[in-house]
Amino acid sequence: MCAKQITKNAHSKPQVETTGHIWDGVEELNNPLPRWWVWVLYLTIIWGIGYTIAYPAWPMISGATQGILGPQERAAVAAEIDRFDAANGDIKAALIAAPLADIPADQALKAYAIPAGASVFKNNCAACHGSGAAGVQGKGYPNLLDNDWLWGGDMEAIHTTLTHGIRNTTDPDARYSQMPKFGADGLLEPAQIAAVVEHVLKISGQDHDAALASAGATVFAENCVACHTEAGTGDRNFGAPNLTDAIWLYGGDRATITDTVVNARFGVMPAWAGRLSEDEIRAVATYVHSLGGGE
Ligand code: HEC
Ligand code: HEC
Repeated sequence: MCAKQITKNAHSKPQVETTGHIWDGVEELNNPLPRWWVWVLYLTIIWGIGYTIAYPAWPMISGATQGILGPQERAAVAAEIDRFDAANGDIKAALIAAPLADIPADQALKAYAIPAGASVFKNNCAACHGSGAAGVQGKGYPNLLDNDWLWGGDMEAIHTTLTHGIRNTTDPDARYSQMPKFGADGLLEPAQIAAVVEHVLKISGQDHDAALASAGATVFAENCVACHTEAGTGDRNFGAPNLTDAIWLYGGDRATITDTVVNARFGVMPAWAGRLSEDEIRAVATYVHSLGGGE
């Protein structure tokens, strides 16, 4: 603080000490802090010290001081989780014990499985299948809301798909099939590919070149029916999609179908056994089954 001086203030109020700071003729007065304010300050300091004694506060090399009241937030959360787990233990055991096909009709199991499955879905599946399970068109992530299934839409089939996954390298029981790379591996001539693409456009009800498509029907019969069936409606044993509907995993326009026939596709889904518990897999299977396409 600078040299103090007593000045008479402009309004002739009682004389107040100034700090000696003057800017453009404006003086800084040195009024004492209001008493109530000082007391609040002291009280907060005392409260702060008391708090750090009572509650975990000061960081130590490992952990922190525990505080004499010793509240354990982590332990409290863990205890809460245990309490919920214990409360749900019976229903989880019932979900695991129930025959898969019976779960959707069992109101008590469904009442637990659908919200539990929805939260498993948000955390594990939405990244690929979309938060609303509508899939990602053109990227090979199937829509799970419709009744168009690659591998099957009843509880058993969905459960198997989830447990083992699809074309992954980690689970020997993963669902597996591989469409040949007809172009890249030289199995078909470019003209044959152009023809079979017109046939696929035709059976999916799109604009096509009729003459090319009828040549393509022969190519299709010789190369595609083993997996996609004669009518092109697909075979779930191979996860081969229905080519006659408007639902496309990768895309139904001429360029995308050509790309599929030339280079093939290889959609991969991880196995969920080991990442999710059996009750979680069953819950999310029930949730997916309930979305509208369940069989
Ligand atoms: C890394 C991306 C990815 C994640 C995460 C993922 N999936 Fe998939 N899922 C796929 C792909 C890709 C396919 C299609 C594979 C194919 O082409 O056959 C698929 C297929 C499926 C199918 C088969 C659909 C049918 O028509 O038969 C179901 C059911 C399914 N997923 C459910 C789930 C559920 C439930 C989860 C969460 C536990 C999940 N998926 C997480 C990528 C993923
Ligand atoms: C060995 C079995 C197999 C054969 C043979 C086969 N496909 Fe496929 N095809 C599949 C499978 C499996 C998929 C899905 C791949 C995936 O999910 O990643 C597929 C996907 C497709 C798709 C993509 C559909 C979509 O929804 O985007 C088209 C188009 C297609 N095949 C056309 C053909 C044509 C044309 C032929 C014959 C020239 C053929 N396939 C032969 C198994 C086969």
